Amino acid sequence: EKGGWSSFMAKEISEQPEAVANTLRTRIHDDHVVLPDLAGLEDSLAGIDRIVIIACGTASYAGMLGKYAIEKWARIPIEVQLSHEFRYSEPVLSPTTLVVSISQSGETMDTLMAVKYAIEAGAKTLSICNTQGATIARESDAVIYTHAGPEVAVASTKAFVAQIAALYLFGLHLAEVRGTLSAEATKEALGELSSIPGKLEQVLLTKERIQELAKWMSDSRAVLFLGRHVGYPVALEGALKLKELAYIHAEGFAAGELKHGPIALIEPGQPVFVVVPSPRDPNSLHAKVVSNIQEIRARGARILAIAEQGDAAVLPFADEVIPIPLAGALFEPLLAVVPLQIFAMELATAKGLDVDQPRNLAKSVTVE
Ligand code: M6R
Repeated sequence: EKGGWSSFMAKEISEQPEAVANTLRTRIHDDHVVLPDLAGLEDSLAGIDRIVIIACGTASYAGMLGKYAIEKWARIPIEVQLSHEFRYSEPVLSPTTLVVSISQSGETMDTLMAVKYAIEAGAKTLSICNTQGATIARESDAVIYTHAGPEVAVASTKAFVAQIAALYLFGLHLAEVRGTLSAEATKEALGELSSIPGKLEQVLLTKERIQELAKWMSDSRAVLFLGRHVGYPVALEGALKLKELAYIHAEGFAAGELKHGPIALIEPGQPVFVVVPSPRDPNSLHAKVVSNIQEIRARGARILAIAEQGDAAVLPFADEVIPIPLAGALFEPLLAVVPLQIFAMELATAKGLDVDQPRNLAKSVTVE
């Protein structure tokens, strides 16, 4: 079933272009998002005044990305909560709250219990799910299926990019319902989304280079990941992948937080992955992240930058630059995450570990 690949994870990483393409397929028509999937919410969507996204692990990082995009497009307040924390904060929920759960398996007990709690509290529920007919999907008012295909490796990869694509489709649809985004901006965003599968193919070509890097770094004791805005969840995801696959201590930080503590960790030789925003970023975050790179470089950090192709400002300060194709700011994470997935997989492989079945973990966590 691995079809010539060394692991399911390697196969699933390579399937990411199709995972996104299949999730978008049939859902974009004439510059509009078409989601018959939302029929169960049809009457309530226009009246929703708040969204709470619940998920665990990698799915929660997709949720964070959903927040940036949906808030921007649909101008609705969103909070992202870990499913297992959600109930215990006595969340304020009402019939105008939409609780969006994200789960590849659709069977994660923590997320299922959170969805049930939301239903009992009278909130509306939408699930983003990769498994047809899963329990969470059945419990929810509506479900947007991601069509990533079965994900076998414990580490989530193609489901993650498909979840982002589904959340972005939902966000663009909601923006249309709420009248918050111009037709031109919607068209541009849909164009960006549709171009992701082709760009993912290009990012996959960096595999051999990352393999070399991973081999070279296989005795690392700790690796840090920095990102800002949408690069922040990517940093968290890069760190999670490295922990779960290569058993290396890894932390993701929001780059702006560095001087509030984490910079104390930087000592000569410390590897730091930095997800660099595009120099074209409308928020001008590029210069700030480049200055973070300079700060940690001055303290001896070894910089591994994931940066837009042709970003010359990063070159003088990075030990390694992994280029990603140009994309709109909100869409960069779909590309920037891939080198980090490959890095974790290759480093685990270099250490002789089982990348599909890391120790102590199960693919689907069906106990609380
Ligand atoms: O099936 P789910 O999407 O609900 O699973 C959520 C997490 O358990 C999952 O993403 C986990 O963090 C992965 N092992 C990460 O690679």
